[in-house]
Amino acid sequence: MSVHKKVEAKRITTHTIQAMKNVGEKITMLTAYDFSMARILDAAGIDMILVGDSASNVMAGHETTLPITLDQMIYHACSVVRGIKRCLVVVDLPFGSYQGNSKKALASAIRIMKESGAHAIKLEGGDEVLDSVERILSAGVPVMGHLGLTPQSIYKFGTYTVRAKEEAEAAKLIADAKKLQKAGCFALVLEKIPAELAKKVAESLDIPVIGIGAGNDVDGQVLVVHDMLGITHEFNPRFLRRYLNLYDEIKGAVNQYVDDVKSRDFPNEKEQY
Ligand code: KIV
Repeated sequence: MSVHKKVEAKRITTHTIQAMKNVGEKITMLTAYDFSMARILDAAGIDMILVGDSASNVMAGHETTLPITLDQMIYHACSVVRGIKRCLVVVDLPFGSYQGNSKKALASAIRIMKESGAHAIKLEGGDEVLDSVERILSAGVPVMGHLGLTPQSIYKFGTYTVRAKEEAEAAKLIADAKKLQKAGCFALVLEKIPAELAKKVAESLDIPVIGIGAGNDVDGQVLVVHDMLGITHEFNPRFLRRYLNLYDEIKGAVNQYVDDVKSRDFPNEKEQY
């Protein structure tokens, strides 16, 4: 029987996350965008909450992550931070708030940290955003990198298919991962890349590598909470494990409520004053 080591911590910090990698404890991360969900995830023992720019899709109904604004990300981050006691909260820098201008990137990161009370930021890309990563880190703000499928660049890629299958793209990804670690990122997300490549990156980096569609040989996993709870039901990538089917459960409950009110069954005598 294999014995899994566990890092004990009253509050999870970037150091706790690193300690988990060091002892081989898998790291858990889910997205959340509001107070009530954050409270449940935190109570359930999640290590990190990502206030992802996937809020643009699952909260606002946009087709891509591009439209969400910095103000909207801060609103979601404030709500999440109010709901947690223990986990580490990481907030995505949205599209347009950091690319190509490291001073703007720092200003965006500082707004998130000051106004929401979150603990770290995440941004997408490697070499192209290294200036921004370095400037943000120089202000003492922890940065999580994100390579592989980077949804903010969807119009450059053209599709949401698996990234870095070709040798040249895989080599760039490995080089970018090393640059992000060298710059001082505390962790790295790898999205939708071959499991073999993700394994190689996780083994060659000292910092934790968190995968989504990147196989099991990385240091932790992240999923969009609406996907794993089955609130979204039309999105069915191979990497997704659904733990509930809340779309049908909620629909069923609301159908029942509609019937109960229409038929005058609700409220009954015990449900009134
Ligand atoms: O925005 C998001 O939810 C993300 C995860 C998919 C990693 O970046």
